[in-house]
Amino acid sequence: MPALGTDGLVGVIGAGAMGSGIAQVAAVAGHQVVLADADATAVARARDAMAKALARDVEKGRMPAGSDVATLARVRFTEGVGELAAFRDCGLVVEAIVERLDAKRALFTSLESVVTNDCVLATNTSSLPVAAIGGGCRRPDRVLGVHFFNPAPVMPLVEIVPSLATSASVATLTRTLVDSWKKTTVMASDTPGFIVNRVARPYYGEAIRMYEEGIADIATIDWAMKTVGGFRMGPFELMDFIGHDVNFVVTRSVFEGMSFDPRYRPSVTQQRLVDAGWLGRKSGRGFYDYAQGATPPAPTEDRALGQRLVDRVLAMLVNEAVDAVLMRVASPQDIDLAMTKGVNYPKGLIAWGQEIGLPIILDRLEVLYGEYGEDRYRPSALLRRIVRDGRSLLA
Ligand SMILES: NC(=O)c1ccc[n+]([C@@H]2O[C@H](COP(=O)([O-])OP(=O)(O)OC[C@H]3O[C@@H](n4cnc5c(N)ncnc54)[C@H](O)[C@@H]3O)[C@@H](O)[C@H]2O)c1
Repeated sequence: MPALGTDGLVGVIGAGAMGSGIAQVAAVAGHQVVLADADATAVARARDAMAKALARDVEKGRMPAGSDVATLARVRFTEGVGELAAFRDCGLVVEAIVERLDAKRALFTSLESVVTNDCVLATNTSSLPVAAIGGGCRRPDRVLGVHFFNPAPVMPLVEIVPSLATSASVATLTRTLVDSWKKTTVMASDTPGFIVNRVARPYYGEAIRMYEEGIADIATIDWAMKTVGGFRMGPFELMDFIGHDVNFVVTRSVFEGMSFDPRYRPSVTQQRLVDAGWLGRKSGRGFYDYAQGATPPAPTEDRALGQRLVDRVLAMLVNEAVDAVLMRVASPQDIDLAMTKGVNYPKGLIAWGQEIGLPIILDRLEVLYGEYGEDRYRPSALLRRIVRDGRSLLA
């Protein structure tokens, strides 16, 4: 695979939030880049945003003077993707177009007719199976997931997701290339939500559940998760930031992808926010009111209550991380790395669980399971096993 070198031409299709960020990362790493979008205004917006972001990096001393102009000059912005010939000499093409299977499959099928045999086709999908996207290709062995986090130039994590058809050499070479872009890569299996979007579900789901039951209000849960738990953002402010439309779609797709396992069941509360168009910050209203002059609700700063809230969410998160090890979604080390580098958790969940004591985590889950009788609280078989054997997952 000679074309996939650190100086090779990189193609990015889709110049929205993710595509423009990925193109910037590749250009900063020294690649010539072709960035295309079906919508000419998206291309113009991407060029402006990238110029501003690079200039800011120079201003803040993160890049040497003048390198913003040189970096931007390495990116060729092309309007419309009818001109797929622009991607002919690429060693790697990353697609970051709309999250629709038919669109992604059609794009890769057309790309295959222009790129060389050596070209790797990567998808930035968050929720579609990589196997399904590559399934329409003549050579699915060259297709894999390369999942960046938003904003791509800032967030260090990239999940490398080979499908069952991806060749081992394509996965290894792509990982090495993305590592050379100064990203932290982890290997994830082609399963719903990969690592981060699966393991993080309880951060939202259990917080909403406690709110729905009236155990605490949103301000108090957010306060507890930040002040007592050490998380950078509380679950409600984070969901408002992500957007409920986006977060709800991810939750639903993980739920469906996991054959409706109740552990991932979406909440009626979030469904109603979406129904009402209360999408969070971007619509001015979500769990919180972002109207000018609105008074944010005050938390009840009760540390004992805060600790109970954190303990419950953490037990669910650690269980999810351990279960992802059981199901071989990724190694324990990569799962811990993914949660600290992809969503800024203060500690890796497995290390955190071990620090608290896995028997204590198991006990908390068993209390919840006994009380509710709901499958969402079932402890992972691996958690039971390592507690029984007194083993560490990170040794
Ligand atoms: N936004 C995130 O937080 C995030 C994070 C990780 C992954 N992703 C994934 O990245 C992809 C892009 O997401 P985004 O947030 O950048 O979306 P976006 O809506 O900001 O950008 C998508 C762009 O793709 C273009 N497009 C749509 N269909 C096209 C086609 N057939 N050919 C060429 N261009 C086309 C659109 O004009 C648009 O500019 C999705 O698969 C999404 O699931 C998003």
